[in-house]
Amino acid sequence: MLNEITLLHPARRTDSLGFSDIVKIRNRVFAMKQSGMSILQLEGGEPFAPTPDFVKEAMKRALDENQTRYAASSGIAPLLEAIRAKLAERNGLNITTEQVIVTAGGMHALFCAFQATVNEGDEVLLFSPYWTPIRDLVAYAGGKPTLVPWEEVRNGSLTEALESRLTGRTRIIYVNSPANPTGDVLTRSQLEEIARFATTNNLVVISDEAYEDVVYDDPHISIASLPEMFSRTISVFTLSKSYSMTGWRIGYIAADDRWMEVLRKLVLNSVNGVSTPTQYATVAAISDRSTHLAKMRDEYRLRRDLLCKGVSDAGFGCVPPRGAFYLFADVRSRLGSDSWKAMNELLEKTGIATVPGVVFGPHGEGHLRMSYSNPIETIEAAIAAFKKL
Ligand SMILES: Cc1ncc(COP(=O)(O)O)c(C=O)c1O
Repeated sequence: MLNEITLLHPARRTDSLGFSDIVKIRNRVFAMKQSGMSILQLEGGEPFAPTPDFVKEAMKRALDENQTRYAASSGIAPLLEAIRAKLAERNGLNITTEQVIVTAGGMHALFCAFQATVNEGDEVLLFSPYWTPIRDLVAYAGGKPTLVPWEEVRNGSLTEALESRLTGRTRIIYVNSPANPTGDVLTRSQLEEIARFATTNNLVVISDEAYEDVVYDDPHISIASLPEMFSRTISVFTLSKSYSMTGWRIGYIAADDRWMEVLRKLVLNSVNGVSTPTQYATVAAISDRSTHLAKMRDEYRLRRDLLCKGVSDAGFGCVPPRGAFYLFADVRSRLGSDSWKAMNELLEKTGIATVPGVVFGPHGEGHLRMSYSNPIETIEAAIAAFKKL
């Protein structure tokens, strides 16, 4: 018989869930700041700019119009229509509003995508270093992450890298381009290679396009837009990075009918729909055709080039990333290969907060992730502070 102690224990299912190391670093930075230290915060993952005024105005209007009641749990009709039009125009996805569902941010979308597709013991291919929560989302769904080093992708052996990790249990491949933390962007021909591999081996693709609007050289390509890929791809988008809406918690999924019923159930039973006024305000963001995104891209490019030069001048390895807003600097020559030690040394000697690369998986060891989504003055101060090393 179960005794009281056993009953008062959290469900075993939750044992596989981790808690973000980045949050632990953030808490340490807050504590240091509270004790009066000045910290240059390159550890974050947020756009430096506030939410654009036209989105805030739309939120105020939604509240004035009392758009505060329960909404349809899969999303309000005007938002679904705005998303459909955006996906057709910018992502090459010609789909119906029935193939779109609104979620509480990209994280919730990914949670639902993995819950919808992973069976106990399924193997999920992840390019590594990877965005940390993915490992937990895979594990919580009962899956097993299989790491595919980005290094092998960069060396030109993408298909071989995937094939050598394929087993009878491989079911899903998680594609994140532009990638956090490395800033890698997969080219059309690389996405075609992945598509061929997925089709040949009957895999599901979960495509995380959180940074679709932060690409510097080529246009963003959604893998679901490649021939025959829509049916096997669950595409995840968020407003967080494109429109500086991290705190609003809104994103969406585009997927074939075969996935929609289960996705609807997951959204209904987790959040029962996203905040109604937020959805009305998001119509303004999704319908935006101004130069906002292009201007933001230029701002990020400026910051990337500035920090990358500073980091190289300080003797670290830095290749300018082709997307997202992080440098994944190789710090081995100056700070050694233990990235937690390197992060601590940099923080203590210079007041620069970063994230140890190993937090993003074993292939990240010897690196530090530095966000250049910061005011120019912060980046300049960080460059000057490297000299204290
Ligand atoms: C790669 C990647 N995917 C998804 C997300 C989810 O973002 P959100 O939950 O704010 O929409 C993030 C946020 O940092 C990210 O870096």
